[in-house]
Amino acid sequence: MIVNEAWSIDEGEARVSALFEKTFGAVPQAVHSAPGRVNVIGEHTDYNGGYALPMALPHRTYAAVTKRDDRVVRLVSAQEAGVREVNLDDVDRYDSDNPVEGWPAYVVGVAWALEQQGKPKMPGMDVAIDSCVPFGAGLSSSAALECAVAAAWDSFMAQEDDWTPLLASDEGRSELVQACIAAENHIAGAPTGGMDQAASLRCKEGHVILLDSKDFSLRHIPFDLASAGLEMLVVDTRAPHKLADGQYAKRRATCEASAKKLGVEYLADLDYNVDMSELTEVERMRTRHVITEIARTLDFAELLESGELTGERLEKLGNLMTESHESLRVDYEVTCPELDAVVTTALEHGAIGARMTGGGFGGSAIALVPVEKVDDVMTAVEARFAQEGFNEPHFLHAVPSAPAN
Ligand code: GLA
Repeated sequence: MIVNEAWSIDEGEARVSALFEKTFGAVPQAVHSAPGRVNVIGEHTDYNGGYALPMALPHRTYAAVTKRDDRVVRLVSAQEAGVREVNLDDVDRYDSDNPVEGWPAYVVGVAWALEQQGKPKMPGMDVAIDSCVPFGAGLSSSAALECAVAAAWDSFMAQEDDWTPLLASDEGRSELVQACIAAENHIAGAPTGGMDQAASLRCKEGHVILLDSKDFSLRHIPFDLASAGLEMLVVDTRAPHKLADGQYAKRRATCEASAKKLGVEYLADLDYNVDMSELTEVERMRTRHVITEIARTLDFAELLESGELTGERLEKLGNLMTESHESLRVDYEVTCPELDAVVTTALEHGAIGARMTGGGFGGSAIALVPVEKVDDVMTAVEARFAQEGFNEPHFLHAVPSAPAN
């Protein structure tokens, strides 16, 4: 059984500092880090102006950094051999035919986006990256990378006179969120919605956030699973997963087309009982998912805020998660056999609710499970995957954790 344990902050910092020193021959000036996330409910709602309810994972991406006097960014990652180099003055020259290749786009894109916001030119840096957020698992490893380096640029700039540290306030963090989204959308070329970056930069230990994607306002809601005897088990299905392969963009385009036909800016602006007769069948399915998912997310948040995680309330919370999965499976069509198998198996073995999390098409599922049943669920999921001939799943224990710093 493979459990992907989060590194302690000390371990993460030590690993990435060692990589930095080995590569660049000096001790780094600073280490920053940012978490991946799981979304508890509210999927494919962010780019529709709706609500989502993510929390940060204890799994983080670490960036050991030293500021440079020029505009060069030299990058090394524990997950790849060799040093990459990009000049920040060149980032603008890249376009979709000639992109900054691979993961460095998520790094230099953030500096580019901060400058696009009207901020001064960012300095170059030497940066070493290491991470215990699994890649391609739908747990926002890319947002964790963007947010960790956003923290680095902010603290470099904080040494200048005319810079108010952005990490020090929620308003500042919100600006960093927007820069990270722009980096991902425009430089890395993934048309994602912003929930991941908001979670990574603005979450709070022991809490989920209820994020209103229309204006990025949010509310922190306590989510104390441990004292309720519960666990949020994450199953990384390790099924092939690619957001950039066009399916995600296609869902987003269908939603935008449907909103336009119905005369609203976002699907989130529609009434629950809107007349959808002018939509095609597929548009109706996608729209139905978005409208019902937003309602489920608000119900979930309201239930969480109304009392303890026990009895009928807990049962309702679980049902909302499972209904969300059904809607993503049937109406939004973004699940896959591995994700569906996790949900069915977890529910059969005592989970209170279960659903896919993140973009879908592979990636991870989550299950809300009483602590004493977690082992049963893990064993059953592993056996089911073996029986179906799927890749061996990896498990993560999700505890609502701290934001980027
Ligand atoms: C990915 C994107 C998010 C969000 C989810 C689906 O994680 O990065 O912006 O759209 O998919 O909820």
